[in-house]
Amino acid sequence: MRKAAFPLPSGRAALVPSVLAADFSCLKGSLAPLRKLADWLQVDVMDGHFVPNLSFGPGIAAAVAEASGLPVDAHLMVEEPGRFLDAFAAAGAGLITVHAEARGAGACVKKIKKMGLKAGLALRPKTPLKNIIPFLGSLDLVLIMTVEPGFGGQAFMPEMLPKVEAARALITGAGRPVWLQVDGGINAATARLAARAGADSLVIGSALFKARSPAAFLRGLRGGV
Ligand code: DX5
Repeated sequence: MRKAAFPLPSGRAALVPSVLAADFSCLKGSLAPLRKLADWLQVDVMDGHFVPNLSFGPGIAAAVAEASGLPVDAHLMVEEPGRFLDAFAAAGAGLITVHAEARGAGACVKKIKKMGLKAGLALRPKTPLKNIIPFLGSLDLVLIMTVEPGFGGQAFMPEMLPKVEAARALITGAGRPVWLQVDGGINAATARLAARAGADSLVIGSALFKARSPAAFLRGLRGGV
């Protein structure tokens, strides 16, 4: 599967719709209006163990990549991400994010890089930021969760903003091009808070797909974060 290249939007945060909140009865129709407005898409993969929810597998990631023509970021909220890296790479994910709390996270980051993909590391709200320090030399993305992973539609946790600011300082200090992604409860207001705290990639689910016009919602954000 040809992998679309991840764009580097200039002067604004990357806007990353979370497919978890899309209309699965009409995925193509749900994603079509976003093709020219979203920077990439995130597929939220849940195994019912690492988080108390089950979502979807590589088949949906492939369908999303095909239907949208956009780059796909696979956020693996799974206990043993090492078992799924090949499948999501084959499905067309160009960026794979594993959780620092998952089994073999470090080995997964190494394998993702070896596969020539971008590697992300995600932190649950309670996981201290210092846990990413050993990986900063090889990561392409750090994901700070602003909700407890597992479900869309939750309220943004403003108490995570100092962690986003600290992550930005850490990344700047590392002197490497590492994206800082925020995921959970992002809407027009919290997008601005997260961007101001240093996020340059925003995952948006419910606020986007529940908007009267998701395209207008993204256009509004493009001008404001
Ligand atoms: C939680 C998911 C959600 C999703 C975004 O595990 O990762 O955060 O991507 O959903 P909203 O934008 O509805 O919080």
